[in-house]
Amino acid sequence: MTILVTGGAGFIGANFVLDWIAAEGEPVVNVDKLTYAGNLANLASLSGDKRHAFSRGDIGDRAFIDALLAQHQPRAVVHFAAESHVDRSIHAPGEFIQTNVVGTFTLLEAVRGFWTALADDRKAAFRYLHVSTDEVYGTLGADDPAFSETTAYAPNSPYSASKAASDHLVRAYHHTYGLPVLTTNCSNNYGPYQFPEKLIPLMIANALEGKPLPVYGDGKQIRDWLYVGDHCSAIRAVLAKGRLGEVYNVGGNAEMKNLDVVHALCDTLDRERPRDGGHRKLITYVKDRPGHDRRYAIDARKIRGELGWSPSETFETGLAKTVRWYLGNADWVAQVKSGEYRRWIEKNYAERSAG
Ligand code: NAD
Ligand code: DAU
Repeated sequence: MTILVTGGAGFIGANFVLDWIAAEGEPVVNVDKLTYAGNLANLASLSGDKRHAFSRGDIGDRAFIDALLAQHQPRAVVHFAAESHVDRSIHAPGEFIQTNVVGTFTLLEAVRGFWTALADDRKAAFRYLHVSTDEVYGTLGADDPAFSETTAYAPNSPYSASKAASDHLVRAYHHTYGLPVLTTNCSNNYGPYQFPEKLIPLMIANALEGKPLPVYGDGKQIRDWLYVGDHCSAIRAVLAKGRLGEVYNVGGNAEMKNLDVVHALCDTLDRERPRDGGHRKLITYVKDRPGHDRRYAIDARKIRGELGWSPSETFETGLAKTVRWYLGNADWVAQVKSGEYRRWIEKNYAERSAG
């Protein structure tokens, strides 16, 4: 038995591959294009482990995916591969459409061809799990109820629109062809191996260098934070017990204003790596993200009630683990801050200097 994972060298994908092999012991074929966000160093602890087979390639390359499916005969596909950063989608949306929409379509077509030809027992057991985001639901007002699986889609950024399009394709492949799909829509993840373009690892990396901590707009936007290990356990639960064609929202029940997240980080770093005057002094308000969603919140009652899943970490325990991981892995941070990273930081923050 083998599963095929796409995007398994990225942040959540790599955490999932490590978690899967530790928890299930089942072999993984890991397909990743190794964009700026993909990093084989995330999987270094699996070096020499025969349960992990890495294959560099693009989910949009039909012949490549067909060959992998034929060779490895997976019993399931877990699809993480995507362009994932909202600010990059605002600067350059084309790659988001290419990978998130066209790539997902190509992957679905390849999987449909493979699945259709399977014998009945394998066909019935096969699963295609699509990893998506809460951003497809748009933005919430302060008093709105949290996103549920029946909330209407209203994506606001090129990133979330491309993910919404991919979710619709996955849904249609179940409805039209009977492909045995499952979809998860998860809130903001944080934890080890997250690329320091995203809020939490960017703030940790900047704080450790004594650089400004750039808070967009008024810093009162709200996200629902989930430790990445809890996202991995949710995906395992949905893959094992989810009802075919169903969507499961996944969240940490941890709504926080961005500014409160940054304050919590500063206070943690003050304890772990004290600096003169404290880290909060580094906070700098910068120009807001265009079309910035104000609030996300997840109603996770379905996955809890049907599958018995709930997060193991609170925001406090997850953040403490995360900060400790970044402090203990300065080499990893230094390695990912390559030329491409520096170019991105200059591009994204140069035009935000006016707060
Ligand atoms: P990431 O950007 O860290 O990793 C994405 C990975 O996909 C990288 O390894 C990259 O090399 C690979 N990839 C990109 N284009 C590819 C292509 N065409 N073919 C093959 N591989 C390709 O992203 P992440 O934060 O780990 O997110 C993973 C998935 O989870 C995404 O689908 C994202 O939409 C979803 N998600 C993320 C979050 C979050 O908070 N990060 C929350 C909910 C859902
Ligand atoms: O909600 C799930 C989504 O969470 C995922 O689908 C995306 O892949 C993931 O990137 C994340 O999107 P966000 O836009 O919410 O995450 P990001 O870390 O980019 O930003 C979190 C919040 O912090 C957001 O309100 C913008 C703000 N922010 C971000 C950066 C990078 C700042 O204030 N300053 C910053 O420098």
